[in-house]
Amino acid sequence: MITSQRIRKAVIPAAGLGTRFLPATKAMPKEMLPVVDEPAIQYVVAEASQAGLDDILMITGQNKRSMEDHFDRAPVLEATLRDKGDSKKLEAIQHATNLGDLHYVRQGQALGLGHAVLCGKQHVGHEPFAVLLGDDLIDARDELLTTMMEAQERLGGSVIAVMEVPEESVSAYGVVDAGGHHREPGAQVVPVHRLVEKPPVEEAPSNLAIIGRYVLHPAVFSELERTPPGKGGEIQLTDALQAMAAKAPEEGGGVHAVIFRGRRYDTGDKLSYIKAVVTLAAEREDLGPELRPWLKEFAQSF
Ligand code: G1P
Repeated sequence: MITSQRIRKAVIPAAGLGTRFLPATKAMPKEMLPVVDEPAIQYVVAEASQAGLDDILMITGQNKRSMEDHFDRAPVLEATLRDKGDSKKLEAIQHATNLGDLHYVRQGQALGLGHAVLCGKQHVGHEPFAVLLGDDLIDARDELLTTMMEAQERLGGSVIAVMEVPEESVSAYGVVDAGGHHREPGAQVVPVHRLVEKPPVEEAPSNLAIIGRYVLHPAVFSELERTPPGKGGEIQLTDALQAMAAKAPEEGGGVHAVIFRGRRYDTGDKLSYIKAVVTLAAEREDLGPELRPWLKEFAQSF
């Protein structure tokens, strides 16, 4: 029998060096780069919180202090805003503090995403948990995490999120073989037979790319402990999940994928980040009405 447990914990790996954004990230974490007026990491924490995950563990590293400060109280700033009667800004800064119960653990060495997740073992314990990668922002209007949590509670094992991407992009992602079931009309949750980390396009089993949301069975921790370095010499979460896919349900095995068809914004490299900021700003009530006509005019100037 598959036993289900309510999922309460989220792990957010945020220890990367952010080299793609140098020199901006020389002395500040890439997670703190603003997406309009909130740091990118706040969107991800808010998404976890929105899905009812109020115990959030961040896996951090050197240079990440400002992230902890961002989610902490700021008494002097709060008092100044209160004295000025600026309740809107006061609310905005307090919002970040109220998103959940945040914990931090440091990765120490950058040995890969699988290793980062393994750093959460002690904190997570023996319950299923979510993993959210900071480079992927999922539009708050499009449901993903709760669908994944429901699927994990129903099916056991682990659940990942995938999205169809153009063929030429597959080598930037973990790619899955879902036996073609995703092409069935209305397919939303499909079993995963095989996962490959960043395959060359000719070896990719499909164009279904893993996007940065996972709901994992805690057995993944012991699997990660045995996972040798893979692509790029790093311990890959995809490799551990490949092993989990072949395991029996009693051992926490089995992997399913939720096919995401909503809006996702990649903030992992410069061009995608700029597109994400412009898209989200253009949709904002306070900025959109002025930004949209300007964008049209600007686009015509090329
Ligand atoms: C990681 C994962 C990869 C996944 C991607 C999603 O790669 O290893 O399987 O497709 O996140 O963003 P990264 O982008 O950190 O290199």
